[in-house]
Amino acid sequence: MNIINDKVTDYINGLYRPLNGELEAIREAAEREHVPIILRDTETLLLSLIRLKRPSRILEIGTAVGYSAACMALACENCRVVTIESDSGMERRARSNIRRLGLDERIQVLQGKAQELLDGELFRNAPEPYDLVFIDAAKSHYRTFWEKTVPLCGAGAIILCDNVLMRGTTVSEEYDPKNKFRTSIRRMREFLAFLSETQIADTSILPVGDGVSISILKG
Ligand SMILES: C[S@@+](CC[C@H](N)C(=O)[O-])C[C@H]1O[C@@H](n2cnc3c(N)ncnc32)[C@H](O)[C@@H]1O
Repeated sequence: MNIINDKVTDYINGLYRPLNGELEAIREAAEREHVPIILRDTETLLLSLIRLKRPSRILEIGTAVGYSAACMALACENCRVVTIESDSGMERRARSNIRRLGLDERIQVLQGKAQELLDGELFRNAPEPYDLVFIDAAKSHYRTFWEKTVPLCGAGAIILCDNVLMRGTTVSEEYDPKNKFRTSIRRMREFLAFLSETQIADTSILPVGDGVSISILKG
């Protein structure tokens, strides 16, 4: 289910303008092949936050073909992006797109499961904290991704999680009539309940795209 009225979505999407023609081509190819990349309205929200925050270091969990990583790097001229992708085929495509866009100096693609890599040396010895984290990978692991990224962030960092309303299934079982997503629904609800209660961050949950949570870490 589209969580927003289709007419509203179509209208907003009609006003969307891609950052450049090369990114537009990457988006079109991904959509044609059903590679799940950030929705247009979520992209504009994320890029607005980046323009406001002006992060120096961004961490992304879930690269796919490198589309959102490239958008984030272009929206913030001097920032560096580290992005993690578990699928080696996707990782290769992301590297190739990022190289073609001339962003390979600023975007580092890591291949592996984020929950394992985030425990590794690379992150333990990170020179500076991250200012913005974009979580957009396996939905049932969001709590784990959150717990492992918070210690890598500075005060005031923004953690944005995509797809938190999961086509409406987070809100009501009626959108999952065959109970196919029971476990991820339970885990996402637990995660959002946790975000609403934790004292270490202030969180908004917005019905943009497929649902977005925006948390700002306290000092
Ligand atoms: C929704 S796509 C990411 C889209 C990308 N952020 C964009 O908007 O262009 C999610 C990606 O996360 C990857 N993924 C899933 N679980 C993961 C994990 N545990 N660690 C790292 N990547 C994971 C999937 O292979 C998939 O390519």
